[in-house]
Amino acid sequence: MKMKTGDLTASIPKYLSDTYAWAYGTPEAVRLFERQWLVNLILWGNFARLRDKALAALGERLSGKTLQIACVYGDLTPKLLAAHTDAGQLDVVDVLPVQVLNLRNKLGANASRVGIHLGNSAAMVYESASYDRALLFFLLHEQPEDVRRKTLSEALRVVRPGGKLVIVDYHRPHGFHPLNLPMRAVLSSLEPFALDLWAHDLAVWLPPGVPVQSIDAQTFFGGLYQLLVITR
Ligand SMILES: C[S@@+](CC[C@H](N)C(=O)[O-])C[C@H]1O[C@@H](n2cnc3c(N)ncnc32)[C@H](O)[C@@H]1O
Repeated sequence: MKMKTGDLTASIPKYLSDTYAWAYGTPEAVRLFERQWLVNLILWGNFARLRDKALAALGERLSGKTLQIACVYGDLTPKLLAAHTDAGQLDVVDVLPVQVLNLRNKLGANASRVGIHLGNSAAMVYESASYDRALLFFLLHEQPEDVRRKTLSEALRVVRPGGKLVIVDYHRPHGFHPLNLPMRAVLSSLEPFALDLWAHDLAVWLPPGVPVQSIDAQTFFGGLYQLLVITR
């Protein structure tokens, strides 16, 4: 299906309609999941901690341009907007019209302060090096490998040299983690690409030949979650 908003168009990727319609693709899904307590439960009580780690990695007082790649349920985007000074600009891009609409509703009067765009993370329309920083919050584990590679390549393309790409996502927990087996079962039945992030470091999907100054990696909650800060 091809959707249009303004001058941007985006086709809904097949993996998303096949695998994640129940979570993101319908107004019913949005009504169910757009609850802070539920997204926190899905992350075993770690939503606020991971959100705040991502925000701290992006910076406390943000000027310049920030791109959030994909909508996130809960209050991540309002908090990210609040971190921007008057000289800052936040843009958010998502491929699903229902998510774009939900974000507008969630931001209410502040929606006019955010550039909310319909578009695909794997083929973004933004100019190269046009953002000071970008955020990928639990997007990569939902994407098949070829799309994940393109998303990372696009994210690094749009961030300027010296800028930051911050990634928060799943990671392989320690061997004796009590959630190791349950999470393996949940992810393998509901999220068919997620276990790739247990098997490999995210760096294996970075585009070859794109220079990065540094990659700082941290894990949380017994290794189940990771934060990567890539300085372009
Ligand atoms: C960021 S991920 C998961 C976030 C987290 N699980 C949460 O609580 O919302 C979910 C979002 O990614 C979006 N998405 C998935 N594939 C995309 C793509 N190729 N381009 C842009 N957005 C995409 C979905 O439409 C959805 O809004």
